[in-house]
Amino acid sequence: MPKITVEDKTFEAPADKRLVLALEDNGIEILHRCGGYAKCTTCRVKFIEGEPEQMTKAEKERLQQDPQNLYGKVRLSCQILCDHDMTVAPVMTMQNADVDSPGKRPEDQITPSSEWTER
Ligand code: FES
Repeated sequence: MPKITVEDKTFEAPADKRLVLALEDNGIEILHRCGGYAKCTTCRVKFIEGEPEQMTKAEKERLQQDPQNLYGKVRLSCQILCDHDMTVAPVMTMQNADVDSPGKRPEDQITPSSEWTER
């Protein structure tokens, strides 16, 4: 199974699992305020290693349209599958954000649709 690394912690995740859920299920309280629909960008991560070449169309559009110009800087973990080894740094978590909930748990499959393009 692919290995996911966050700081000094490494865990395995099934290749068809959404990265946001793999992080959450391994004790990292990453935000996902829109429930995994490529809308809120609170599930954003920085890639240290293993950034995927493919991107959902929804992720690309959202990052390109962002007023903070996020395209090329971060990726949306709700739009990424754990299909290879990767090292990431979550940006917004329950520890550093002023919110009372991470957001509704995203569905198991990529939403709104897993239509892929290149990054
Ligand atoms: S963009 Fe909202 S959870 Fe990923």
